[in-house]
Amino acid sequence: MDSSELELQRAAAVAEAMDDIRRIESDLGVTGAGVEAIRDRLVRLSELRALFPADQFLAPASEDAKSSYLYRLAQDADDRFALYLQSSAGQVTTPAHNHTTWAVVVGFEGQELNKFYTRTTDGGIEKTHEHLVEYGTGVAMLPDDLHSIHIDGSALNFHCYGLALERLESREYHSPTTNEWKIFSSVSGIREGRTNLQNC
Ligand SMILES: [Fe+2]
Repeated sequence: MDSSELELQRAAAVAEAMDDIRRIESDLGVTGAGVEAIRDRLVRLSELRALFPADQFLAPASEDAKSSYLYRLAQDADDRFALYLQSSAGQVTTPAHNHTTWAVVVGFEGQELNKFYTRTTDGGIEKTHEHLVEYGTGVAMLPDDLHSIHIDGSALNFHCYGLALERLESREYHSPTTNEWKIFSSVSGIREGRTNLQNC
């Protein structure tokens, strides 16, 4: 398959998955059952491995200040239903945070450890459980759910949100040093991974 044929097939597979995900949210709402069904749909998308070759979604080089890149694969005109491929190399760690929209992570290559937390009455956090996201598995979160991610090595994962990351302006994270909740600055520097079908 040449690269433009591959891009067409990838765009069609992503569009089909996002159509299903819109329908799932409409049918089941932003509920545990809804986000788990979205996760399962993205696991099915991840099974089309050949459509997402690692050399088209390169991770940062070792001299790069970043250790991961986000490639946008889908996003509606109103910025809802955003799907990214996160390509990382080396260590990626986040503090515990919420998303203010539903969020799903599905493994593709490598491993991303997800730790989950609840808030404690003194304003801190307490870990409840972990899930190692790797090929064929994923995690699904409601808007207030708290997690942190921990990657050591190369990894390629789907990250999907009810609203685009650039629009999430009030995500909270827990500072372990001060035991305070702070607001994440908006994500920038997202790379365009969508196929312009008119150019194919
Ligand atoms: Fe997150």
